[in-house]
Amino acid sequence: MLAAGAACAGEVEVLHWWTSGGEAKAAAALKAKLQTLGHTWKDFAVAGGGGDSAMTVLKSRVVSGNAPAAAQIKGPSIQEWAREGVLASIDDTAKANNWDALIPKPIADGLKYKGSYVAVPVNVHRVNWLWVNPEVFKKANAKVPTTWDEFFAAAEALKKVGVIPVAHGGQNWQDFTTFEAVALGVGGVDFYKKALVQLDAATLKSPTMEKVLTTFKRVKDYTDKNAPGRDWNLATAMVINGQAGMQIMGDWAKGEFLAAGKVPGKDFVCAPAPGTSKAFTYNVDSFAMFKIKNDANVKAQKDLATAIMSPEFQEAFNLNKGSIPVRLNMDLAKFDDCAKQSSADFVASSKAGSLVPSIAHGMAVPSAAEGAIKDAVSQFWNSDKMTAKEAMERIASAAKVK
Ligand code: GAL
Repeated sequence: MLAAGAACAGEVEVLHWWTSGGEAKAAAALKAKLQTLGHTWKDFAVAGGGGDSAMTVLKSRVVSGNAPAAAQIKGPSIQEWAREGVLASIDDTAKANNWDALIPKPIADGLKYKGSYVAVPVNVHRVNWLWVNPEVFKKANAKVPTTWDEFFAAAEALKKVGVIPVAHGGQNWQDFTTFEAVALGVGGVDFYKKALVQLDAATLKSPTMEKVLTTFKRVKDYTDKNAPGRDWNLATAMVINGQAGMQIMGDWAKGEFLAAGKVPGKDFVCAPAPGTSKAFTYNVDSFAMFKIKNDANVKAQKDLATAIMSPEFQEAFNLNKGSIPVRLNMDLAKFDDCAKQSSADFVASSKAGSLVPSIAHGMAVPSAAEGAIKDAVSQFWNSDKMTAKEAMERIASAAKVK
């Protein structure tokens, strides 16, 4: 029996970028799950939040004919990779486990290529969050903002008591994450969809876009001069230790607070990013499965996919990651209030038509346009000279990149 077990045991090489404190704990849950099935986990972690470096490394591995079994790929990129003919169908696994009934349809559609599943989802992250240190807010006599005007009022108050108002870092996807939150809060849901999902040229050059860009740039005045080069989780650490008052970031930031032993509602507060309480910017992490040769490894790959969708894994992983399970009808008893709010808002926004894909996290537009717009947004953020009008032109041209 031992010999038979060993013959079936395979190895799964998994590419991901989960290297911060909270992320690493979540990745460890995935590894543990695979090991309990008797398979070997080969870690292929590429540091750099947001995944830009990971995607560059993945491309070179696939081009050289040496793809990992599974890679953290999401949104429209799944289709891009599938069109290259390098992804494997895991439809038998999906059918055997009834995924169509367990994954919200709009998400499931994005995980399929020509009707077959090629990727398995792990979670739903909400991106439009504001993370607040209540102690420093109290010291500054500031109120958790619900509008952008209130945001700047709170930022001023924090500045007066010597606290860095906004924790920010130097990766361009951090700028982009702030930008999309401002776009949703200042422009509203329809604007967001037209500008950042449909990439409508007129909307990208509209007066609303100018207002969005001006507001976005104002946020920078409240960040510190050491932000360039800083990783997102180090920015979160500044809110955790009270050096900074708030951070605009997806709920992977909650994974950092939790890993630091902080309690939601007491040591930190999660609030929807200003002006976005009725909307939900989603970011679904998923693993795309690559075509591999060895039978035992294919079996291990499929076992991993099955395990990822199991209720036990969805719970264990998401409790660490800060996200909520993507699997429908899960019991959230063990989850905190931020997760419960996220889950309720996910359902409500989906009904109301205000559930929108995150452009900053690869969910909304093809990767080439996303990269070009992200660069244009960061150039504006970093420039002392570029006007909002000039930025609008650059962004509108970037949106045409194919
Ligand atoms: C996102 C990813 C999250 C999170 C974040 C920072 O793009 O979906 O899982 O880890 O990057 O690394």
